[in-house]
Amino acid sequence: MLRLLLLYLSGASWARRIVMGWGLARRVARRYVAGETEDDVIAAIRVLNQKGITATVDILGESTADAAEASRYAEAYLHLIERVSAEQLKSSVSLKLTALGLGVDPAICHDHMRHILDTARTHGINVTIDMEDHTATDRTLAMLRRLRAEGYENVQAVIQAYLFRSEADIATLAEEKVDVRLCKGAYREPASVAHPRKSDVDAAYVKLMKLLLDAANAGGGYPGIATHDPAMIAATRAYAEQCHISLDRFEFQMLYGIRPALQEELARAGYGMRVYVPFGTQWYPYFMRRLAERPANLWFFASNLFRG
Ligand code: FDA
Repeated sequence: MLRLLLLYLSGASWARRIVMGWGLARRVARRYVAGETEDDVIAAIRVLNQKGITATVDILGESTADAAEASRYAEAYLHLIERVSAEQLKSSVSLKLTALGLGVDPAICHDHMRHILDTARTHGINVTIDMEDHTATDRTLAMLRRLRAEGYENVQAVIQAYLFRSEADIATLAEEKVDVRLCKGAYREPASVAHPRKSDVDAAYVKLMKLLLDAANAGGGYPGIATHDPAMIAATRAYAEQCHISLDRFEFQMLYGIRPALQEELARAGYGMRVYVPFGTQWYPYFMRRLAERPANLWFFASNLFRG
């Protein structure tokens, strides 16, 4: 119930105005966001790299309202890619197509993606297209396929275990040898398209993880197992061991600020470990989705409130 309320608020502009103007919310959001500037995120990635953890860096923003805003995002990504390369950081890039104008005009978004992928390819950097709510899934996968057909092999996909369609999507992406990040899914979705119960999402996650690992073992892509759930991580480790899948065939991924000790433990144990590091001023919807995943975080929020 609380989760659904928080997810509803994540998309409500009136709530965004209130929460973003609140200094305490900004301080709590810093737990999940590396800062507001490029310098902040570069420093955060460097710390992770020193611990043997790679990164994927994201400029916060989604659902841009016009072409000018989409162009500003694209420019910011181009600058960021040059900077990551110049600083010799181990980091890929993650982005949302709606930030690059998918909802304004797919042709504009396509042009921005080509430019970003060209620049990223020059520096040997991969770009993962985050997956947004189910109304964007077809358009997102269509854009990914169009770009791959144009020869961009450095573009990667995200699949959400909670969607009923995901098993079929994974089968096709594996055939196409696309690298896939598997996550549970973070949006408020209707029961007609997604499992409403956590236990069903978890069961789907394990099933899809196995499909991805099998495909990777047969040469079909490099999976990112993106979860903080100890049960999902244990299932992945056990399956890899059982099927003799070597550790260089997949990696674990987590979000910045969530279970950092586990991130370091997995890196020390020899697993590939990548952390998604978001930064920027548009932190509101991202922050609300993180609160929704763990409503217990609201207590953390409340206790800070009462402490003043
Ligand atoms: P689950 O939600 O069951 O949490 C398991 C445990 O992890 C919790 O018990 C808690 O200990 C810890 N935890 C989880 N969330 C926490 C939080 N916010 N604060 C503190 N502790 C927390 N989604 C999407 O729809 N599209 C996308 O493109 C992406 N991209 C993405 C990239 C990466 C690298 C990750 C790790 C995740 C995503 N996600 C995403 C988000 C994903 O769909 C999902 O919402 C979160 O990862 C939470 O799910 P878990 O698998 O961690 O399990």
